[in-house]
Amino acid sequence: MPKFSSKIGVIATTVGSAVGLGNVWRFPAEVQANGGALFLFIYIICIFLFGIPVMTAEFALGRGGDSDAVSVYGKVTPRHKHWALTGALAVLASYLILSFYMVVSGWTLEYLLQSLSGNLYAADAADKTAFTASMGRYIAGTWRPIVMTVVMILANLVVLLRGVRGGIERISNILMPLLFVLLAVFCGVSLSLPGARQGLEFFLRPDLSALSPSTVINALGQAFFSLSLAMGILVTYSSYYPATTRLTRTATTVALLDLMVALLMGVIIFPAVMTFGLADSDLAGSSLVFVTLPEIFARMSGSQWWSALFFLLLTVGAFTSTISLAEVSVSFVKTRWGVSRRAACLWVCLPLLVLSSVCSLSVGPWSGFTIAGLTIFDFLDTIATNIMLPLGGILLCLYMGWVAPERFFRAQLTNDGAIHSRALTAIRFIVKWVAPPLIFLILVWQFV
Ligand code: PFF
Repeated sequence: MPKFSSKIGVIATTVGSAVGLGNVWRFPAEVQANGGALFLFIYIICIFLFGIPVMTAEFALGRGGDSDAVSVYGKVTPRHKHWALTGALAVLASYLILSFYMVVSGWTLEYLLQSLSGNLYAADAADKTAFTASMGRYIAGTWRPIVMTVVMILANLVVLLRGVRGGIERISNILMPLLFVLLAVFCGVSLSLPGARQGLEFFLRPDLSALSPSTVINALGQAFFSLSLAMGILVTYSSYYPATTRLTRTATTVALLDLMVALLMGVIIFPAVMTFGLADSDLAGSSLVFVTLPEIFARMSGSQWWSALFFLLLTVGAFTSTISLAEVSVSFVKTRWGVSRRAACLWVCLPLLVLSSVCSLSVGPWSGFTIAGLTIFDFLDTIATNIMLPLGGILLCLYMGWVAPERFFRAQLTNDGAIHSRALTAIRFIVKWVAPPLIFLILVWQFV
């Protein structure tokens, strides 16, 4: 497999995958719905207790197997080839997630362009109903959302075609620092708002009445989603890690940076929501990003520029995440069928044009067509995120805990004995004994 050229490249690409829409639109809503600081506290424990160990296990599998997310299993344990099915599940899930995630990344691009042109803030009475209506109108449209999605797919294609070093690593090295600068700017602005103190209190106020088993389960689910676990992404990216990369340290750095972005998002959003006196419901999912935030920007001077910067931040976050989701399939197609990178990129991106367009239409003109009461978009989201992701997580942990030889795990964590790994025993214990039953609990919990 090709290798990333520097330590910075390793961190930038992996953080680029982890930091995405999950940090911006999922995290604040989860915190708010699950009792503020209490959820945060449990979330942080989940990151350390499960996130970092499972991430390290994925890195070990990817770098040690040195192949795509499916073939690694046969390479590590040639006698247990059928475990490749776990990899196939991950490739399929990441492709399905990609198909609707790409549509949302198209929306962020549209809002970036609408902010730059000033159209988003053109209406005199820029209130919630106006923004709700304009978002509804936009999403329900036929062509425009598809065009934006196609633009994002083509942008992905351009980076993917340039390869692991010249494309993925290079763009991440440029975009990740930009993302952190933008975050810092927004933190400064938000903390200087009059409602900052109140907002932070709201963000960090522990609400014990909200504590229930589902708080823990939601926190664990959010940790998996946000860290891009069990999707084949980390296996694929770590197959590009050089032999000298310290896996436990990298997993810790990536997890902490992802956590930092989520926390900064809270610091940005809650003071703003408090200052402008919005309701709890304004924090939920897509309405937070596409309705509540524009409403806040509309009340600030220089609305259109702040708005453009924010949607730039979001587009960048989504872009580096879609690249990582797509690379799982590119790497798989390329290795499995021995085709050129160019052919593999086309095989991945051309069907995606159709699949993502269908997803886009399914929340617009085709919204009447439902499967189990859900639009195609929501159906894919539910199946992939709530079922395939935890299932993949369990199988991955079982494989690394019980099937892959211990000496393989040890060799990867110690870089073949070159470094000492104090965390090895703890990580293996968690992956073997603790993570599988707990993730199983998440999987089952949603059905009871
Ligand atoms: N981790 C990224 C995010 O939080 O947005 C991207 C992502 C990867 C989302 C895998 C969902 C997922 F299943």
